[in-house]
Amino acid sequence: MVAAAIIMTPFAAGMALLAIIFSLWGLLTARFMMPNMVVELPSKFKVGPASDFPIGTVSEKYKASRGVWLVHSTAYNGENIVYALASVCTHLGCTPNWLEGEQKFKCPCHGSGFYISGINFEGPAPRPLERVGLRVAEDGMLEVDKSVKFQEELGQWADGKSFVALG
Ligand code: FES
Repeated sequence: MVAAAIIMTPFAAGMALLAIIFSLWGLLTARFMMPNMVVELPSKFKVGPASDFPIGTVSEKYKASRGVWLVHSTAYNGENIVYALASVCTHLGCTPNWLEGEQKFKCPCHGSGFYISGINFEGPAPRPLERVGLRVAEDGMLEVDKSVKFQEELGQWADGKSFVALG
């Protein structure tokens, strides 16, 4: 009996090793069969009422999670408007920072600067930041729509879907 156990032990060990190898192979095959899924956030999302965005302010609440600033300003053509700026530098795509003390967006990569309006004024960025869609939804909340972009240099900031007029 003891001799049989000693003889069986290497056999059992070999079987166990084979079982582990086949299990791993099965797991890898199963993973290969699964689709690679990227969970995309919806392009439209509500950010609250316009009153949440006082005039002269840049809200960074949605910068990290959704890549936009909400701005309420009269800096562009003197219009009292709220707009959503994409937080993507128009030079090579880095993420600028809003510098409250200097009242400008500043890109850390190559130094481009943008006024609160989004207009570029220093550094290599060749054009203003882009706006994304913004409207007042049926429930009175501001709704951002990142599926649409508006470029100032193409005259698209005149499009009423790129801002919400206040007062
Ligand atoms: S990517 Fe912003 S200045 Fe170059």
